[in-house]
Amino acid sequence: MTDTESIGRTESTGRPGTPAGTANIGVVGMAVMGSNLARNLAGREGNTVAVYNRSPERTRTLVQEHPEAGFLASESIDDFVASMARPRTAIIMVQAGRGTDAVIEHLAERFEPGDIIVDGGNANFHDTIRREHDLREQGLNFVGAGISGGEDGALHGPSIMPGGSAEAWETLGPILKSIAAVAEGEPCVTHVGTDGAGHFVKMVHNGIEYADMQLIAESYDLLRRVGGHDVDELVQIFERWNEGDLESYLIEITGEVLEQRDADTGKPLVDVIRDEAGSKGTGVWTVQNAVGLGIPVSGIGEAVFARAVSSKPPQRAAVQQSVKSRPEIAQVPDTFADDVRAALYASKVVAYAQGFDLIIAGAKEYGWDIDLGNLAKIWRGGCIIRAQFLNRIVEAYAKNPELESLLVDPYFANAVAEGETAWRRIVGIAAASGIPAPGFSSALSYYDALASDRLPAALIQGQRDFFGAHTYQRIDKDGTFHTLWSDDDRREVDQDSSTR
Ligand code: 6PG
Repeated sequence: MTDTESIGRTESTGRPGTPAGTANIGVVGMAVMGSNLARNLAGREGNTVAVYNRSPERTRTLVQEHPEAGFLASESIDDFVASMARPRTAIIMVQAGRGTDAVIEHLAERFEPGDIIVDGGNANFHDTIRREHDLREQGLNFVGAGISGGEDGALHGPSIMPGGSAEAWETLGPILKSIAAVAEGEPCVTHVGTDGAGHFVKMVHNGIEYADMQLIAESYDLLRRVGGHDVDELVQIFERWNEGDLESYLIEITGEVLEQRDADTGKPLVDVIRDEAGSKGTGVWTVQNAVGLGIPVSGIGEAVFARAVSSKPPQRAAVQQSVKSRPEIAQVPDTFADDVRAALYASKVVAYAQGFDLIIAGAKEYGWDIDLGNLAKIWRGGCIIRAQFLNRIVEAYAKNPELESLLVDPYFANAVAEGETAWRRIVGIAAASGIPAPGFSSALSYYDALASDRLPAALIQGQRDFFGAHTYQRIDKDGTFHTLWSDDDRREVDQDSSTR
């Protein structure tokens, strides 16, 4: 086959005779996510899908294995571009970073004003803002779209978070709606906001995913090491939890992961997997950006740090050797599993409240008009954090779009208050027993900080003023003050009226 031939125009496509220039959508990158997304698109009424991969073998295999898809497959980028109808719309599903930049460059050289390039990878939203800006100058639409749901979601219905222009959404919206998951009768896709908004909220989605997973892991650890439940009992507990208000994809798969036996040893698989959690970086980005925006996302931060601690075997081994004794495991009441459940639910509310705070701050900083209720809606299906719980968030923002915090919504305030005593018991038991529960305890501290009428921040202000003349405000009068702290001249100076 020559470089200018297109595989899809042969009999092997299943749609013989399909002329060039008729695909309404194209996908670049035929690794699992890309090929599954292309198959999902091809299976929906009205779509003709152009496909292209840098190494053509993958494309050939896909076309051979799925003749029913009627792909218009190309082996050169020129043919790929030629196989699409205007406005051309291509979704890039390649590794974030340099790979994405290279594909964008190739497409941008060939695309014409009004055409649309979609990046469906886990891109850094700062890159998306830059790319959108550069391509706009060429008259091209660039859309950063967060796509969640893993391989299975890509094939059967992901949750999709597109950014980019309203003009691009007009063309792209119906196509994405055709492949997205459906929750409560609504497709799990919405135009999140302009330029990098889609990738920003996908980043926060992943951060919440980290927090959720960490809290579930802490629950598992406490139930096993303190509660004394064996793995079979844990499977039942997680199955039971998945029938109540904790019902979610992550609780469901936790039961399934725990149920799995290792083929070699017959042990629970979880007992032969090394306890060192990896990550690809979106959790770290979430925390970095939250710190920059001044938003406490301690639940996500603790989840990121817990993975980091787990991944330091030499340091762990050194401390284990030097620690002389460990606390005894506390005696716990029969209600322990219910207490853990309550702590998990309350901590999860905190993690989501913090995640939504970050989205509000990001929207303000970057000028996005993000509808939080719509966002919660599209996370109800298809994505990794899909959960019953998100219906409550949808309701909360429907009642009051200006909520100061999810913790203020009457449903969540009540849910946390109901679980509060158990939550405190669990944090105490974990500390007394020497079981790390950073997610539970930091969530409780955050809650207590917001709920306290006075914080020790006043002392910190005093310290700052002492060593650096950083000034402070008083509770009883307006103005900015500095104290002259030296022993012989202790008095306060009103900074606003002083010339110091
Ligand atoms: C999703 C997932 C997906 C992936 C991330 C996080 O929404 O489908 O979030 O994007 O799981 O890459 O993975 P790490 O845990 O490796 O950072």
